[in-house]
This record gives sequence, structure tokens and C-alpha cells, in this order.
Amino acid sequence: MIKTAIASVLAREILDSRGDPTVAVDIELEGGARATAMVPSGASTGAHEAVELRDGDRNRYRGKGVLKAVANVNDPIARAVKGRDATDQRALDTLLIELDGTPNKAKLGANAILGVSLAAARAAAVATGTPLYRTFGKGTTLPVPLMNVLNGGKHATDSADMQEYMLVPLGAPTFAEAIRYGSEVFHALKDILHDKGMGTGVGDEGGFAPSGLRTNEEPIELILAAIARARYRAGEDIALALDPASTELYANGTYTLAREKRSLDARGMTQIYADWAKRYPIVSIEDGLAEDDWDGWRHLTATLGDRVQLVGDDLFVTNVTRIERGIREKIANSILIKVNQIGTVSESVDAVELGRRAGYTSVVSHRSGETEDTTIADLVVGLDTGQIKTGSLSRSERIAKYNRLMEIERELGSVARYAGRAAFTRVRA
Ligand code: PGA
Ligand code: ZN
Repeated sequence: MIKTAIASVLAREILDSRGDPTVAVDIELEGGARATAMVPSGASTGAHEAVELRDGDRNRYRGKGVLKAVANVNDPIARAVKGRDATDQRALDTLLIELDGTPNKAKLGANAILGVSLAAARAAAVATGTPLYRTFGKGTTLPVPLMNVLNGGKHATDSADMQEYMLVPLGAPTFAEAIRYGSEVFHALKDILHDKGMGTGVGDEGGFAPSGLRTNEEPIELILAAIARARYRAGEDIALALDPASTELYANGTYTLAREKRSLDARGMTQIYADWAKRYPIVSIEDGLAEDDWDGWRHLTATLGDRVQLVGDDLFVTNVTRIERGIREKIANSILIKVNQIGTVSESVDAVELGRRAGYTSVVSHRSGETEDTTIADLVVGLDTGQIKTGSLSRSERIAKYNRLMEIERELGSVARYAGRAAFTRVRA
């Protein structure tokens, strides 16, 4: 008997941070090691993501139940993986991909498959007494957190058109200090919003979702004021990142900024970003253009790609086929890594490695619907990508990842290195 062979796999329906159903998977190995993984879920999802299987039965959870995905784990998947070595992630993931047999995991569901892939990684770490980050790679770098302190778009009700305004504490000496910088600015921002009577309720990722914004630029000014109020230097201690999630703003060749009552084409959007990049310390822009606007992206990359990190999220969906096209056509220079966009640990690793060979950075990311699962914190350290996007400085499903990263930093001790400014290879010192 191999102690790390899978003895049992059991899935359950649980709730995510939005109160919607998602999949949890419990795995037990022959030697007695047990682990659980929970699957995240997006709201501004890309059209090319792997399929998240939902029941569609309007009588349960407004059609969002995941009992089909749960059943797929409990029968075909459990039967296939029983006896397999949980420490051989690649073989296990390959088996799961073959069992599904579709290019986008439409048969079994990426939520079913990912639950098993993540739970196996966690169980393998428990069984072998290895820190989880070590099962993903040799990295010792603590990532720069991209902290989404102002939520708009689909993650809020009456806020900015653009989805995410992030703090990037790249000047901090350690990860724990980066967290302190972020927390202090988050609270300063709360005071500023309160003083202006704009509301201090938070959106899906724990950032403020103020009402009464007149433009999509105003959040940048508010955040810079908060950085100053907390006595940090914008650009040196803390830079900024944006995720306009512009696929959500796009229809028929046009990007609509409803709050500003105007519509633009890809060149017009690029002009906005170029103007902002000149006037503000912006080091990263994600999904500046829509998921299938390859021509627009080519122009955006040619215009800004030498000085700003341009991250493909909906554009690449953690999918090597789409990333290969991007590399070939000189589109974007960074990849967002969301494990549930592709559905297995191994394919997420492949995306990072493909990007690395082409000089693309990678940002490991949560989803707007999250759980208390912290696996991505270990993943980003093991894979050594140097950047993580896991929300604001409130809501425990976000904070859990930060707390885990601070724990890892302590555990690594003198070996730990904070990625800092060097993580942003396109940004001049
Ligand atoms: P999602 O948003 O999880 O709702 O897709 C996150 C993002 O766009 O980065
Ligand atoms: Zn995004």
C-alpha cells in the first residue's frame, strides 16, 4: 500500500463569499492524511473560461446549485482516482482531463475537477509533512499584493464603471509590512469617503464601493489622497494598479463608460490609460481592453507595453492556447493566473511557465466569489511569480490569504524575500 494513494474522495455543496453555492472536496489518503479544498467562482467571467457546472434548477439557489458537479466528483471522478498517488499531481490532473474529454471541461465541470486537483495537492502535503507551497515549487519569494481597495463594475452596485482600483505596496521591505501599508491606507480611504459622505460599504472583494462618483478617474484621486493621509509616498512606497475588466464595458466595437456618459473605441481607451500612466504611478493595468479585441490589444501593448504591466485575465483565461497566441502576436506582457479558469493545478503551472519563457510576468489571483481556502497563497510562493491579487483589507475570505502569506513569510525566516519593485519588470526604477 502506498500511503499517499487516494483512499476516498467526497464532494459537498457549500457557500462562497457571495452566499452562492460552490464545491468543496474532502480527500483521504491510504495513510490517513486528509484535506479539503474549496472552489472559487467569478462574476465578471471570461467567455473562454473552462465551464463552471451549475444545476440550472431555478427552485434551488436561483439555478446556481452545484449538485451535478458534486455528483460528478462522487461518482465518475472518485472511481477513477481511487488508488492514484496524490503526490503525482501531473498524472492525476492528466487523468482528470482525459476523464472529462472535452477541451473546456464541459462534461464534468471545471469546478468538480479543480476541487479534486486542489484537494489532492493539499492531502499530499499533509501526508508527506511538506509545507504546501513546497509541493508547488521551490520558490521563496513573497508576492507583492495588488490590493483592490475600491470596487466597481460587476463587484459593486453604484460605484465606478471600472472594476478594480488597487494599491501596490512595492516599496515595503517585507510582505508583513506591505500588509500594514495596505491596511493603513484602506482605513485612511474610509475616513476620506466618510468625510465626503460617499458611503463606506464594501463590494465583493472587500474594497469600498462609494456612490456619487462622477468619473472613473476620481477613485484614483481618492486613493492618492488616502496614501498621503496615511503618510506614504505614492509611487515609491505604494504604486497603483487597475483592472477595468473592460470586457464588461464592451459591445459591438465600443467601450461604454456609463458614469461619464461616453463611449470610446480601443484607441480612445488606450489614450485614457496612456494619459493616466503619465500622471499617476500606475504600474499595472489588467484587461484594459476586451477579451476578443485582439487588434485593440495589439495597439495598447505597442503604446504602453514598455512601461506598464499589461495583464491578460479574460483575454488569456489561464489557457496556454490563448497565451501562445498573445506571445506570438506581442499582446499583453503579463498573465493573470486563476486556477478555476482552467481547472487543474498542473495547467495553471503550465501557464506560468509558458509566460516565464516568453518574459511575461504572472499574477496569481483569487475570484470575486471566494472561500476560506488559502491554497493560492501557497501556490504563488511555490511558483515564485512575485505578485498576487487577493482583494482588499477586509472580508475574511480575502484576509485569510494574506494571513497565510504572513505565516509563510515567518516560516521561511531568513530565506524569505519580498518581491518588491523587482516584480514589475516593465517599470523603470
Ligand atoms: P471575477 O473578477 O472573479 O468576478 O471574474 C476578478 C477579475 O476580473 O480579476
Ligand atoms: Zn480581471
